[in-house]
Amino acid sequence: MQSTLTDRTVLVTGGAGFIGSHIVESLATNNQVRVLDDFSNGSRMNLPTDVEVIEGDVRDDGTLSRAMQDVEFVFHHAAMVSVEESVTKPRACQEINTAGTLSVLDHARMEDARVIVPSSAAIYGTPDEIPITETARKRPTSPYGISKLATDHHVQRFDELYDLPTVVLRYFNVYGPRQGHGDYSGVISIFLEQAHDGGPITVEGDGTQTRDFVHVDDVVRANLLAATTEHTGDAYNIGTGETISIRELAELIRDVTGSTAEIVHRDRRAGDIPESCADVSKARRRLGYEPSVALREGLTSIADSTAVL
Ligand code: UD1
Repeated sequence: MQSTLTDRTVLVTGGAGFIGSHIVESLATNNQVRVLDDFSNGSRMNLPTDVEVIEGDVRDDGTLSRAMQDVEFVFHHAAMVSVEESVTKPRACQEINTAGTLSVLDHARMEDARVIVPSSAAIYGTPDEIPITETARKRPTSPYGISKLATDHHVQRFDELYDLPTVVLRYFNVYGPRQGHGDYSGVISIFLEQAHDGGPITVEGDGTQTRDFVHVDDVVRANLLAATTEHTGDAYNIGTGETISIRELAELIRDVTGSTAEIVHRDRRAGDIPESCADVSKARRRLGYEPSVALREGLTSIADSTAVL
């Protein structure tokens, strides 16, 4: 994917991780790209050879200050991303996700850099209405969701209070190549692996729960649009506006992989939300965002690329 940014100095924190590495890939050819990553989840294998890599933690001010030097754009993807881990380590989650983002924002003020920060559908909790608009009630059910909600507010307020251009992108269920790396992966990479290994494909609960799965290429496009939009200081849902049930997803994955794996059901996950679907009309209207990868097409491309593994 070609970026609209050229000849810029860009920092991608968490750039060796799943989503961050796709952003790096889209920017590396035409820009000076620096990556700050502690490699707790990410991998050097995800990175092109020509990017500058700083290994370290966003909570370390010296490292962050080095990483932020002379940058014009920051895509801040370094975070604790596992909801489960946040439940066992709520304080660390707050320190990495919220305090870590505040440090990035402080440094961005000194450099006068635009900051694009992912938030999450987790901030909404169980929705009252579908599709979920940005103004929907927010009742996060995990320390992860709480940390993202606090972050989301801070990032928007920096635009208003300090005249620092910022954009918040609230990701729904992101999937795509490289998601399987690290301890934490979503249902699509789990099902693809299960289908590939001959099954069984394990559906939690009755499988009627729905999700809005957005391909990482669309998420990268949203980030690039956020880098140039004049509508800063605001938050945008990034999904597709389409949903599929988890049972149907299991069947679709069997279909695209040609697998005969059995689909089995096990206990519903505690705290699982029954429905999720983004209203993306604000991102469409103000950023020019248009989700373009259909689920079947996205799954097929991952299944093809992993078929030889
Ligand atoms: C996702 C995000 C999470 C975010 C939340 C916000 C991912 C990986 N996680 O969680 O960061 O906080 O949205 O709403 O994107 N399932 C199975 N079998 C499995 C694994 C999962 O049936 O082996 C089911 C789960 O019970 C759930 C659905 O698939 O109903 C999706 O699970 P998962 O991919 O973990 O994402 P969310 O729980 O939606």
